[in-house]
Amino acid sequence: MGRDSDILVGLDLGTSKITVTVAELAEDNPGEAQIIGIGQAPSRGMLKGKIVNLEQAISSVSDAIADAESMLSGIKISRAVVAYSCPEARCYHVKGMISLGRAARQITREDLERVIETALSNIKLEPNWAVIHTLPIKYAIDDIGGIDSPLDMTGMKLEVELTAITVPVTIGQNVVNCVRKAGVKVTGLILKPLAEALGALSPDERAIGASLISIGGGTTSFTVFYEGRLMHASELAVGGDHVSNDISLLLKIPITYAEKMKKELSAAPDETPSGIITLDIRGHKQEIDKAEAADIAAARLEQLFADNIAPGIEALENKGISTEIVMNGGVMLTPGIKALAESHLKRDIRIGTPVLGSEMPEGRNDCRYCAAAGIIVYLTERRKNPFAYVEPPMTVFKFDVSKDEGIKKPVRKSDSKVKTLLRWGKDVMKELF
Ligand SMILES: Nc1ncnc2c1ncn2[C@@H]1O[C@H](COP(=O)(O)OP(=O)(O)OP(=O)(O)O)[C@@H](O)[C@H]1O
Ligand SMILES: [Mg+2]
Repeated sequence: MGRDSDILVGLDLGTSKITVTVAELAEDNPGEAQIIGIGQAPSRGMLKGKIVNLEQAISSVSDAIADAESMLSGIKISRAVVAYSCPEARCYHVKGMISLGRAARQITREDLERVIETALSNIKLEPNWAVIHTLPIKYAIDDIGGIDSPLDMTGMKLEVELTAITVPVTIGQNVVNCVRKAGVKVTGLILKPLAEALGALSPDERAIGASLISIGGGTTSFTVFYEGRLMHASELAVGGDHVSNDISLLLKIPITYAEKMKKELSAAPDETPSGIITLDIRGHKQEIDKAEAADIAAARLEQLFADNIAPGIEALENKGISTEIVMNGGVMLTPGIKALAESHLKRDIRIGTPVLGSEMPEGRNDCRYCAAAGIIVYLTERRKNPFAYVEPPMTVFKFDVSKDEGIKKPVRKSDSKVKTLLRWGKDVMKELF
């Protein structure tokens, strides 16, 4: 296996590109890792964040893996944690409470697992759905709230409030099958909105309160952190590819020309481009009015801001949550897009680049690569505090496979936690791996 046991690998399965992030664990501190390479390949067989052609998707994943391996001599990538899109995902806030007994006593790991399980039992899972992420927001001991980490504290009653995200199993199943067929074992799944936000927002921003809006090729995600905790994560199957499709359909030009043209047109509200572009489409000359093309692009982006993004932020503010707005994804490379976003959202926004950008190679560290970094942030933060990101179904999947970090731990099949999680993970999730 060579150095495989010392590395973390994250794979971002995007609609436009597949990215493979390889990070090396620090020898003296297993909670720290340094990115040592980013592999990439254009994505084929994906539409609106989902696999629509398995063979093509497998071949794209293989290409991205081969690209990463070609940069890192001696490293053979055999496993990865995969970030994938699931616009169907649902986000819940639930509470749980357990009694610790008649006399006050120290809170154990088992108590934490039990209180989390109690909270999750409030979620009615439909058949073939499972919880993919569980993120505690805060705990209370004996009615004293605002407790960050109750482990080893003393009390008689423990309460938790948490955010849980549920997903239909089959979408993840297809992702796992695809990556596996490309020769890489999947040791964990992470939803893209979480990966995007962890990769773009600094811990300080997450603590103060920040929303991350990511507009990629086929999806737009919306993730909210407040007081350091995940409050909301959702995804929409609309992205920059819709802009190219609209231009292609309405101006009757091939998609590749539309894709190229839109990157040159400003989206700023007060900067309508003027003039004519003459395209040479397979020897046939076609004149395109730049203003008309810019109008088509702007209409789609404005619709996204007006119908989806602005109402999401408004709904948040109605709940008393006001946050900084950070935006990323390939669409944020559009000239003038910051001005368009700010005019729609009526506030300043920041364009988010990867928090680990200084470790990432030039050209692969702009606003399109936040999820690639976010997977590594997720894995290292989880190593430092496993109760910050509880992954019940993942534990179910992992109990008979090696850990994502590559450091093997003994399998504890009789462990009550595993049994419990198996029960509400509904066995079916085990099939994923
Ligand atoms: N310079 C640019 N100007 C405008 N749009 C751009 C530019 N560069 C890339 N894009 C658009 O950004 C989109 C790709 O973004 P990104 O790389 O973030 O997508 P992805 O991560 O593969 O997709 P997703 O996360 O939605 O599955 C495409 O629609 C592409 O046309
Ligand atoms: Mg993306």
